[in-house]
Amino acid sequence: ASKQRLLVVANRLPVSAVRREDDSWHLEISVGGLVSALLGVKEFETRWIGWAGVNVPDEIGQKTLIKALAEKRCIPVFLDEEIVHQYYNGYCNNILWPLFHYLGLPQEDRLATTRSFQSQFDAYKKANEMFAAVVNEHYVEGDVVWCHDYHLMFLPKCLKDSNRNMKVGWFLHTPFPSSEIHRTLPSRTQLLRSVLAADLVGVVNLRPGFDSPGSLNIARVLSLPVLTCRKVIDKHKNRKKANIGHVFYVNFHTYDYARHFVSACTRILGLEGTPEGVEDQGKLTRVAAFPIGIDSDRFIRALELPQVQDHMKELKERFAGRKVMLGVDRLDMIKGLPQKILAFEKFLEENPQWRDKVVLLQIAVPTRTDVPEYVALVTSLRDGMNLVSYEFVACQASKKGVLILSEFAGAAQSLGAGAILVNPWNVTEVASSIGYALNMPANEREKRHHHNFVHVTSHTSQEWAATFVSELNDTIVEAQLRT
Ligand code: G6P
Repeated sequence: ASKQRLLVVANRLPVSAVRREDDSWHLEISVGGLVSALLGVKEFETRWIGWAGVNVPDEIGQKTLIKALAEKRCIPVFLDEEIVHQYYNGYCNNILWPLFHYLGLPQEDRLATTRSFQSQFDAYKKANEMFAAVVNEHYVEGDVVWCHDYHLMFLPKCLKDSNRNMKVGWFLHTPFPSSEIHRTLPSRTQLLRSVLAADLVGVVNLRPGFDSPGSLNIARVLSLPVLTCRKVIDKHKNRKKANIGHVFYVNFHTYDYARHFVSACTRILGLEGTPEGVEDQGKLTRVAAFPIGIDSDRFIRALELPQVQDHMKELKERFAGRKVMLGVDRLDMIKGLPQKILAFEKFLEENPQWRDKVVLLQIAVPTRTDVPEYVALVTSLRDGMNLVSYEFVACQASKKGVLILSEFAGAAQSLGAGAILVNPWNVTEVASSIGYALNMPANEREKRHHHNFVHVTSHTSQEWAATFVSELNDTIVEAQLRT
């Protein structure tokens, strides 16, 4: 059978382009959680549409880049410098990103943002229309169009306006804030309305294990908005054939992002939140949580590569006789690097016997360097999922390293049983967790690692994408039956 065609639309392509002197292009893998997840999506006939991270004003450059990217099944959207400044640096990363992560900006900056708001929102809409134009150009009837993240909240509406039969899904990789926060956004209504034009809205976080229809009934009795997730992955296919129906994911504490989204729609737009999603005059937009993951095999296999082995050997020699604590983050104010360093400092103060026996190795990848706020490291911590923690677990089969994880990362809900969860604002608690981790007996490490390893290798990005696309297809079939 021919594979389902999938158009993945995200601000950044999985490869970024750098122009060489001779006008040829060098392509390198982009950094970030979204790319880490999407690289594992293999079951579909996939095309990627997005920005290649580079300004290409001339026609020759555009032509050669289109050709170079085509080999990677990527299609570029060309954004000029002004648009990148207003849309990407401005609206996406200076307005939406801090808001969605509960990051307070200094009063002065907030005022400045308020002043430039309208022009940045206009640029945001314009950029989204440019993405839509490229999608329309490449769309073939029957394609599933999967839009990603806070950069493209205006896209579902643009697409549906040009073709209401297009199958459109939108997936958010960051937290969605409480409606009390979302309502401070001047464009709050337009953004929600536009996202609701999609057939299916997905978010990253949920707690697995609460998947019994029983808990669904409890939720109904308590009249809580319940979010459902039908998993049509292989192991559930039989159930589906037997028509047992939905697998429900219900959690009263931790399906926050989806719950926040639904309540923003009910409170700000006055629409009805139903167990399935959001309803507007009989039209249902399904809202659900899909447990995102990584391509864990890619990481496990990479451990065997000679260059990785060499590098590991080098690191082992360099840090011989010491324990290594590793941090890998984009250099972003949400990642809590100052808090981490404070906690490490406190740990060393209190435990002088560890002073030359433990090293904190922090890899911080520079990011969004044109957004001025990315130096100011004043932070309140929140993270959509944090797939770096998954990557770490995937690589720890032999070492059984301990994971200390912020309770404000989405991953705390899936790796919480194996990791040591901390409140990053509580430096004392983080410092004592460091001590706990360093002294942990082998059998406890083994047990914790095993727990997380099973989760990471069974909730892969492949499964995540298959579930989302299959849910999207089903949603459309059901909508057609209803009309
Ligand atoms: C976060 C966002 C992603 C983004 C990544 C990298 O994980 O949710 O959408 O791709 O950061 O950010 P950048 O601005 O460098 O593309």
